[in-house]
Amino acid sequence: MAAFGTRFMPEMALSTFDGDGWSQPVQVAADQISLHPAAHVLHYSSTCFEGLKAFRHDDGSVNIFRMEANIARLIQSSQLLALPKVTPELLEEMIVNIVKKYVTDVPEPPGSMYIRPTHIGTEPSIGKAASPSLTSMLYVLLSPVGDYFSGGIRPLRLLLEEHGSRCAAHMGMVKSGGNYASALQPIMQARASVNADQVLFCPGGDVQETGAANFLLIDGDEMITKALDSSFLHGITRDSILTIARDMGMKVSERELSVDELIERASKPETEAALSGTAAVLTPVGTLIRDGKDYRVGSGTQGPTTEKLRKALNAIQWGQTADKHGWLTKV
Ligand code: COI
Repeated sequence: MAAFGTRFMPEMALSTFDGDGWSQPVQVAADQISLHPAAHVLHYSSTCFEGLKAFRHDDGSVNIFRMEANIARLIQSSQLLALPKVTPELLEEMIVNIVKKYVTDVPEPPGSMYIRPTHIGTEPSIGKAASPSLTSMLYVLLSPVGDYFSGGIRPLRLLLEEHGSRCAAHMGMVKSGGNYASALQPIMQARASVNADQVLFCPGGDVQETGAANFLLIDGDEMITKALDSSFLHGITRDSILTIARDMGMKVSERELSVDELIERASKPETEAALSGTAAVLTPVGTLIRDGKDYRVGSGTQGPTTEKLRKALNAIQWGQTADKHGWLTKV
C-alpha cells in the first residue's frame, strides 16, 4: 500500500465562507484549490484540521468513528484561531456525503478511509497579522490508509525532550498546522542523532505528548496520562482508550507525570507505554531515550495490555463488538 496519507480520492467536499455565510457544499476535484498568494493562511497560519476514519464492517456497511467529537474539536480549533464559525450540521453533511460517494473505496480492515477536514483563512490581506481572516475555506479530503508508522506495529523509540516545547503552551489543544511544523526540527534531529521514531515533549520535566500522538503509560492495572489542559492535543483516540480501559476495570489516572517517575516506572518488567492517535491507533513504545541513554520500557516489546486495548478499540471500529458508547455513524 502507498505511504500513509499520500493517496486521495479524486474528489473532496468543499464549502467557502464569504464573510456573511457558508456556500452550499459541493464535491470538486481534490487535486487543487485556488488561493490568492496573500491568503491569510499562507502568512499567518490560520489553519486547523481533523483526522478521523471510516471503517468497513463484515456486513458491508461503512461506519465513521467518533465523527461528532472530531467535528466538535474542529469547531473549537476554528474558534481558538479566530476563523469563521463552522456549524456541526455543515461539516457533518460534507463528511457523510463525501464518504458516501466513495463508499466502495473504503478498504477492508485493518485498512480504513482516513478523513481530513481542513479549515483555512483565505482573505487576501497581508496587513491582517493581528486580525482574523473574514473569509475561509472548509474542505474534506479522503485518503485510503493502512499503518501510519512504517514497518507496521513495532515498539517505538522515543526521545525525551525536556527543554523545548511542541508548541506555545496555550495553543497545544488546537489542531493547527503550525503546531506540527514547530515539532519537525526536533523530530528530525532525534531521528538523525539517536535513531528515535518520535520526540516525547516533556517541557520542564512534565510528560506531555509526541509530535503527532498522545502518550499513555500502563503500570499493571493503572493507566497514567497527562490531565487535559491547553498545552496539548485532546486526543479523541486517547479519550476512547481511556474509556475502554475504565470499562475493563483499569484505574485511569489523569495527572502530572514527571520524567523521573516515568523512567522509574519504565524499569519494572510489567510496565508498558503507548502512543494513541487516529493515525497511530495504539502503538507500543519500547524505548525511552534520555540524555543519550536508552531506557527499556518493561520488556521493550508490545505488552499484553496495549495489545488488548488496541484489539478492543479495533473491535468497536470494525463492528465486531457492541458499540455501547454510540461512537459509530453508519453512512
Ligand atoms: C491523526 O492521528 O489523525 C493526526 O492528525 C496525526 C497526523 C500527523 C497524521
